[in-house]
Amino acid sequence: MKSAREIEIMRRSGKITSSVLAMLLQTAKAGMTLGELDRLAEKGIRDRGGIPTFKGYQGYPNSICASVNEVVVHGIPGNQVLKDGDILSIDIGTTFERYVSDTAATVAIGNVSVEAARLMRVTQECLMIGIGKMQKGNRLSDIGHAVQAHAESHGYGVVRALVGHGVGTKMHEEPQVPNWGEAGRGIVMRPGLVLAIEPMITGGTHDVATMADGWTVVTADGKLAAHFEHTIALTDDGPRILTLRENDFLELDVAPYRPKEEIAA
Ligand code: MF3
Ligand code: CO
Ligand code: CO
Repeated sequence: MKSAREIEIMRRSGKITSSVLAMLLQTAKAGMTLGELDRLAEKGIRDRGGIPTFKGYQGYPNSICASVNEVVVHGIPGNQVLKDGDILSIDIGTTFERYVSDTAATVAIGNVSVEAARLMRVTQECLMIGIGKMQKGNRLSDIGHAVQAHAESHGYGVVRALVGHGVGTKMHEEPQVPNWGEAGRGIVMRPGLVLAIEPMITGGTHDVATMADGWTVVTADGKLAAHFEHTIALTDDGPRILTLRENDFLELDVAPYRPKEEIAA
């Protein structure tokens, strides 16, 4: 549980992370390398007074994870050049006054297939629907149950090997937040809970494999994957997204949760 004071620091941390992610999502274009995006991310975080949480985390070499097409998460930015039709998932974290914020989004590079666009949209809907279940009195597994139902209703796979998590002075805190399972299990959620909810959704099987670099997670069948993540505090007034971006979610219309009014100035 976090105090109001801690959540205020996390909000400021989240503002840094979300504004840098928004910049990266706008900047990513065909012809750029993932390494260039990583350098922009590190500069963006440091210029805003934060520290890139990922850099050095369990030996991770960079400030973002950049995961293209069949890469689900934890792609290491390097010389790979983005090309028209790719989908790119960017995951980014900031530590500010000791508190971590963690957020991710998948973006189209140029013109992507209808199928890729649909996968991205449904994955973002999964995140929004999961956030909508983060209400006082609900059980933790209500989140994953709702995410799984939405993804599978579209014929998609829900990655099992990686989960969302509590977040605070450490990036990964208790509890784990799976994106699947039965409803009505786990802790009863109360104000002060801060979670990173992060559905990883695939166009085919939910099985994944890790590459020889020890980080890069790919779909086992080589089909596309998408990933959206927010850091959210449960308040007396419901879930408050600490990493909300300008225009976040605005194109979606299926979800029960409309966070527009929370966009910080
Ligand atoms: N941010 C990722 C997550 O969503 C973890 C990244 S691991 C790192 O939980 F090593 F890249 F930092
Ligand atoms: Co993340
Ligand atoms: Co996370």
